Amino acid sequence: MQDPILLTGGTGFIGAHTATALASAKLPFVILDNLSNSSAKVLDRLARLNASPLAFVNADVRDAQALDAVFARFKFSGVIHFAGLKAVGESVAQPLRYFDNNVNGTLQLLQAMQRAGVKKIVFSSSATVYGDPASVPIREDAALSATNPYGRSKLLCEDMLRELARVDNSWKIALLRYFNPVGAHESGLLGESPHGVPNNLMPFMTQVAMGQREHLQIFGNDYDTPDGTGMRDYLHVMDLAQGHLAALQALDAPKLLTVNLGTGQGVSVKQMVDTFARVTGVPIAHRFVARRPGDIAQCWADPTLAQQLLGWKAQLGLDRMCADAWRWQSMNPQGFDTSL
Ligand code: NAD
Ligand code: UFG
Repeated sequence: MQDPILLTGGTGFIGAHTATALASAKLPFVILDNLSNSSAKVLDRLARLNASPLAFVNADVRDAQALDAVFARFKFSGVIHFAGLKAVGESVAQPLRYFDNNVNGTLQLLQAMQRAGVKKIVFSSSATVYGDPASVPIREDAALSATNPYGRSKLLCEDMLRELARVDNSWKIALLRYFNPVGAHESGLLGESPHGVPNNLMPFMTQVAMGQREHLQIFGNDYDTPDGTGMRDYLHVMDLAQGHLAALQALDAPKLLTVNLGTGQGVSVKQMVDTFARVTGVPIAHRFVARRPGDIAQCWADPTLAQQLLGWKAQLGLDRMCADAWRWQSMNPQGFDTSL
């Protein structure tokens, strides 16, 4: 058997979907997660999908002892580091918590990897590192900036990893800048299950479609976009999962890879609402309200480099994203607490 991969944050939304992609590729893995934003029930769902980890470790990435223990127990071929906090608004209210969890967490992980001699890491970065982009589509060499503590935490992690790669040429590092992951596993057994009121468009829409929320608020219809609503690059979470496999493969020698993972298509909120209604047959009650503070008009990727360097290209379109997100939500009205 091949040496396993460590997935930090592996019971979260993107981590769990990536786990199924690893399992399909017969790549063994271990999950380490402190369950601060996920449910242990994800592990039952992974088992039903024949995607169980070799082990699940309930631990925090800032816990050096726990990290040393897991690195002593397994000989890892590499790490995919998903663990992190990701709510922009919360990061404004609790900046130091975000720096501790995301930046200190990444530092602790890198130190443990160094102690164990594991020097291959795929890092979950974000299109948020482009701040308010000067133009779209966004290439990887666009200017970087942060407009909130969450974005700053990702940029600080990127800086740390870039500097590490520059001074120590034994590391294999991929910085994957995700755009807007949506959708769910096609089985309906895995999906996004945010705690409380969803911040993001797709989970909010599916909850409105379920009748769990009265209507969607569309934040702004006066942007400089064709229909006035904000435009983003939504990509299917299973395509994103495949991007991690491609990155692991591309890290065959010490190097630093920095790539956008997106479709290259900008989609407006209005287009998303219309597509969801057409695909699922369920209209989304909505109202136009003021812009959300901190939002940008448009953000989408130039995904050319991912194709060149990783051989990766998004395959699944908006219809599939809506259909899969809706299947997940309608099969799991209570998220992972739903018994299926
Ligand atoms: P998620 O919250 O569903 O998953 C993150 C997981 O990490 C959770 O299971 C959580 O319990 C765990 N975790 C958090 N802090 C931890 C810690 N200190 N120790 C151990 N486990 C910890 O989020 P996601 O959407 O799956 O995002 C995964 C990664 O991708 C995050 O780093 C996020 O910032 C990044 N990202 C997400 C998006 C997005 O829109 N979902 C976009 C760009 C980047
Ligand atoms: N939107 C609404 N109503 C809602 C939620 C969102 O109209 O209830 C709109 C937003 O204004 C935006 C679009 O839908 O135009 C997408 O919003 P999301 O909150 O789903 O996604 P963002 O692009 O704002 O943010 C996401 C991640 C952030 C990350 C950012 C850049 O949630 O963590 O992408 O990568 F920083």
